[in-house]
Amino acid sequence: MIEAPATTSYLSEHYADEAYATLSGYEAKGGYQGLEKALGMEPAAIREAVKSSGLRGRGGAGFVAGVKWGFMPEQSDAMKLIVCNGDESEPGSFKDRLIMERGPHQVLEGILIGAWAMGAERTYIYVRGEYALSADRLERAIQELRDKGKLGRDCSGKSGFSHDIIVHRGAGAYICGEETGLLESLEGKKGQPRSKPPFPAQYGAFGLPTTVNNVETFAHVPFILDRGVDWFRGFGTEKSPGTTLFGVSGHVERPGLFEKPLGTPLGELIELAGGVRGGRALKGVGPGGLSMPILPSSDLDVGMDEESLSARGSHLGTGGIMVMDETTCMVRVACVISYFFREESCGQCTQCREGTGWLHKLSRRIEGGRGQPGDLEVLGRLPKMMEAQTICAFSDAAAWPIQGLLRHFRDDFESHLPEKSCPFGEGFEL
Ligand SMILES: Cc1cc2nc3c(=O)[nH]c(=O)nc-3n(C[C@H](O)[C@H](O)[C@H](O)COP(=O)(O)O)c2cc1C
Ligand code: SF4
Repeated sequence: MIEAPATTSYLSEHYADEAYATLSGYEAKGGYQGLEKALGMEPAAIREAVKSSGLRGRGGAGFVAGVKWGFMPEQSDAMKLIVCNGDESEPGSFKDRLIMERGPHQVLEGILIGAWAMGAERTYIYVRGEYALSADRLERAIQELRDKGKLGRDCSGKSGFSHDIIVHRGAGAYICGEETGLLESLEGKKGQPRSKPPFPAQYGAFGLPTTVNNVETFAHVPFILDRGVDWFRGFGTEKSPGTTLFGVSGHVERPGLFEKPLGTPLGELIELAGGVRGGRALKGVGPGGLSMPILPSSDLDVGMDEESLSARGSHLGTGGIMVMDETTCMVRVACVISYFFREESCGQCTQCREGTGWLHKLSRRIEGGRGQPGDLEVLGRLPKMMEAQTICAFSDAAAWPIQGLLRHFRDDFESHLPEKSCPFGEGFEL
């Protein structure tokens, strides 16, 4: 479901109107005015505006977009590329899908502004394979732009500006959302992340200088150019400006997407989703998709921005809020999470390949009532061995939620050991 337009939102304001996904419908609501303004500016001035807006990447790492745009080599004989990350592989995250389906021209306009700002000649939009409607809507929107001469050589009425956009459908692996795994997959290879450096701005897709940004990141850009940096900074916090589409799922009455400024209290977002289902008590919340440390119910007052969440030991990630009520067994949660990461590890790094396997083995043993003395200590030590030493951040992402569970819900783990069963009732086989 989509939240009704409110003064605290702009991205999704017209998403309920189907026509907004078409070029004429988008233009009728002021679309492509940001691009028009951008094409009248020097590329460096656009990069500066996006940098001073403070827009941070919405793909999970929160890197400042304008700074990343500045990494692209200015003088380069090689063709420069943009890759728009629409893989949205993070469990609990479903915002990019809605943006691509309901506002494809927002994404395309943001890409074209980025293309002029960075001198990029081609964009690949990597769309999650299951998102058929997203890919169809983007392809239709791209064709509309081609038909109007807004793509191709000397496009959008600007001589010397050439750009084309290609939609690439992914094939379903979580790791293809990691930017260099994505680049490998785009090139037709196995989706295995690359060692960095070199970073994509030096050696990206097909060895060419490439900037990778998330779908939502691009969707904010037209608003910054059209309405201005100060207007954009009027939403959110000093270090995390703008809004985002928070996805609220799990044990709530009305799961859905809610566009609110960054920094909105977690409890307010859960209330927007109708509160915890059946009037039950809240037990824990994953605030940023599956990969981020799970918080206890006492953290409902935390602001949903990176700074506030990291002060409580978690992260914003993709803003996918997963709610768990009092009936939830947190050992079972650890089982499900570690199963997912064990299955999705690409296997290149020992710490990740073996660590995810052990996290799953131990949490499953404890959940099944077969836990042994010392299991909890090993489970507590494992995440530390998996952090910050692998090719990509997947290993950290697998370790963090287990760390959060042990920090805040150790009682759940401890009660399984003497009882030799799950105190929450029937378990399940994985
Ligand atoms: C395991 C893993 C999975 C990721 N999945 C996604 C994804 O599905 N979509 C996405 O935009 N970024 C994903 N990222 C982050 C990307 O690597 C990259 O930081 C992002 O696309 C850059 O865009 P942004 O700066 O606009 O956020 C993932 C990262 C990791 C480590
Ligand atoms: S951390 Fe895991 S997913 Fe990332 S490259 Fe290493 S093995 Fe692959």
